[in-house]
Amino acid sequence: MIILKSECDQEGMRAAGRIAAAVLDEVAAYVTPGMTTREIEKYAAARIKHYGARSAFLGYKNYPCHLCISVNDEVVHGLAGDRRLEFGDLVSLDVGVYYNGFVGDTARTVPAGGCSPEAQNLLDVTERALWEGIRQAVPGNRVVDISRAIQETVEKHGYSVVREFVGHGIGRAMHEDPQVPNFVDTDRSPRLRPGMTLAIEPMVNAGRAGVRVLSDGWTVVTEDGSLSAHFEHTILVTEGEPEVLTCLDRGTSRKTE
Ligand code: MF3
Ligand code: CO
Ligand code: CO
Repeated sequence: MIILKSECDQEGMRAAGRIAAAVLDEVAAYVTPGMTTREIEKYAAARIKHYGARSAFLGYKNYPCHLCISVNDEVVHGLAGDRRLEFGDLVSLDVGVYYNGFVGDTARTVPAGGCSPEAQNLLDVTERALWEGIRQAVPGNRVVDISRAIQETVEKHGYSVVREFVGHGIGRAMHEDPQVPNFVDTDRSPRLRPGMTLAIEPMVNAGRAGVRVLSDGWTVVTEDGSLSAHFEHTILVTEGEPEVLTCLDRGTSRKTE
């Protein structure tokens, strides 16, 4: 069942989205070669607290961290620990917060210090795919139009979309209906309506699409060891252009040209 958000709910989603966006910006700027992922976890926990919010991940199905940190071939749900970042590592950061009963969920992959042009291209294409998906989030379209735009953008560049994890409705719960796959998988796909809030989140592998979960029970890695990137925004479907709730400058045409 898809929950449409009232004007009042939408204000709640904006507030949660703004905090998630601020925390992600701050954490992304904090990432530096030589630091451990545990230092990032500690910093994120402090910033979430600073805004009077709570991590939406900590304790979710017993997930043990405040944010997901996934490095290089790690796709999503990586765990903080003693690992030291090296120059050129690709660091995926996924931040979800509860604030006043609503959830904001947003992710970005950043290089530690800098990275190769090949790695940067993976980041650029994944972010571009997210914005192409967002651009399709208008009434009259269906969820599959978002999925198709993402998949086409990714595959045009020779990369693969992960099948096992998908975007999602979001609201008072982190995961609501509908699912928002990053690939076309069905012709029965819900129509988009004003008041829907969605987390759109392409996970893109430089190599093949296959993934597996490490023995820690959480960390998802590419089967072929290739690099992976993840970008995510929480958006509101309106009568017109989608409103990006996890973008502090609230751009909608940005990055879509
Ligand atoms: N943030 C993820 C998503 O985008 C979910 C993380 S689940 C957790 O849907 F258990 F790792 F927290
Ligand atoms: Co997320
Ligand atoms: Co999400």
